[in-house]
Amino acid sequence: MSLNYAFGFSLFLLILVGLNIYFFYTLNTVGRRPSNFNVPSIKLDYAPSVFKDIYEYLNYLPIQYKNKNQKFTSIQKNLISSFNSSQNVNTKNIWRDTEMWASDESLFPVENGALGPLLHAIRTSQIALVDNAPKGTQLKLLFLLEGKQKLYFKPKRYQMTDVIRGNIYAGFDRHNSEVFAYYLAMVLNFKWIAPSVIRRIHVDREIVPVATMGLKRTMVKNESGSLCIYGKCFYCKINETVCPNDKGEIEGAAILYLDKQFRVHKSPWRRSYSSRKMDWETDNDFCKKISGSLSQKRILNLVDIAIFDFLIQNGDRHRYEIYKDKIVLLDNGKGLGNPAVDELDILAPLYQCCILSQSTWQRLELVSGGVLTDTIKLMSVLQGEVLATEEHYKAVERRLLKVYATIQYCIGKYGSAKVFKDLY
Ligand SMILES: *[C@@H]1O[C@H](CO)[C@@H](O)[C@H](O)[C@H]1NC(C)=O
Ligand SMILES: *[C@@H]1O[C@H](CO)[C@@H](O)[C@H](O)[C@H]1NC(C)=O
Repeated sequence: MSLNYAFGFSLFLLILVGLNIYFFYTLNTVGRRPSNFNVPSIKLDYAPSVFKDIYEYLNYLPIQYKNKNQKFTSIQKNLISSFNSSQNVNTKNIWRDTEMWASDESLFPVENGALGPLLHAIRTSQIALVDNAPKGTQLKLLFLLEGKQKLYFKPKRYQMTDVIRGNIYAGFDRHNSEVFAYYLAMVLNFKWIAPSVIRRIHVDREIVPVATMGLKRTMVKNESGSLCIYGKCFYCKINETVCPNDKGEIEGAAILYLDKQFRVHKSPWRRSYSSRKMDWETDNDFCKKISGSLSQKRILNLVDIAIFDFLIQNGDRHRYEIYKDKIVLLDNGKGLGNPAVDELDILAPLYQCCILSQSTWQRLELVSGGVLTDTIKLMSVLQGEVLATEEHYKAVERRLLKVYATIQYCIGKYGSAKVFKDLY
């Protein structure tokens, strides 16, 4: 009996402390109310009320999320130097190291200056054979290199300043989104992703002499006599070609091909690709529903990916591939479509499950105040690339604040002990 009383009293104390913290927090945040953010033109009327709550947290976001975190400086230095590492390295050694690479931390060598030479090799290695990539919904080529390595090549379809309107998965893949995604992943310390660079190939000199018959059958001369490719894929159409520029080159994202066995899963948060609403769009308890069939580790992984996709606005991850029990960040071409849009529902795994791995949170806290995109810019300059317009860089920073706000929302709702998870 007395034990019960003691328990009751402790509970009472606990609630008292909780209330105290709550009032302290409320007073504190009201006290230093920052200038209000412009709530973007998101369909708030259809949106679940959770959006309103998240925007409320955005308006009172603690100041440290808008300032630079000095602790990132040394990490940034390391990242930059790995992208800048000497390119006079024997390419054969790089490929050998890459093929023999076995690690649970990263899919490819990232340490000891391996990254710079690897990216250089992806950008410059001689192509021995070009074919249409098998399967897929979008025009994609497969390069076989002299050393037998393979690359995917996703050609440029848009100008950097083009804005893709319509639904979140509209349009062709954006080649720059693939490369941007790779750099973003590196900054966020998500290493389950294939290296990717911007590469230019000369159609007459580098493709035609080594093109397979299958590829040649999907090439047409346009009215001014240039050889253009329409490819072989689900959405490929003969009137939607990729043509060389005035130097005779096609630009694209060259992505190291992963010669590994993946298991493919449907994403629980996939879109319907029609006007029909999916379960996750109407059910606030959706996370409870799926947590019976997915491990916490997998959900944490999906939350990481949701944050990643939200930053670039990739709303097209309807399925995911697993290697060694971790989701591989494949197919990141549907990002960077419209810098004015932040579809918050890409974050559904985060605001519906309200869990986040401790390591992801630690990294997110380090990249505040503009450092995230500054680092991507610095890395891309070293590779001689321009990956996005200033509007897109600003948009990524704006979205990062919304990620912070969503995490604050979760902490506000459940407390940080419930939100942050060590496992993973
Ligand atoms: C190509 O043709 C299809 C019909 O076959 C049409 O729907 C599409 O809009 C056309 N694309 C362009 C760029 O003209
Ligand atoms: C044919 O392709 C070339 C190279 O991309 C381009 O400059 C030209 O405008 C194209 N002509 C037509 C009629 O599409």
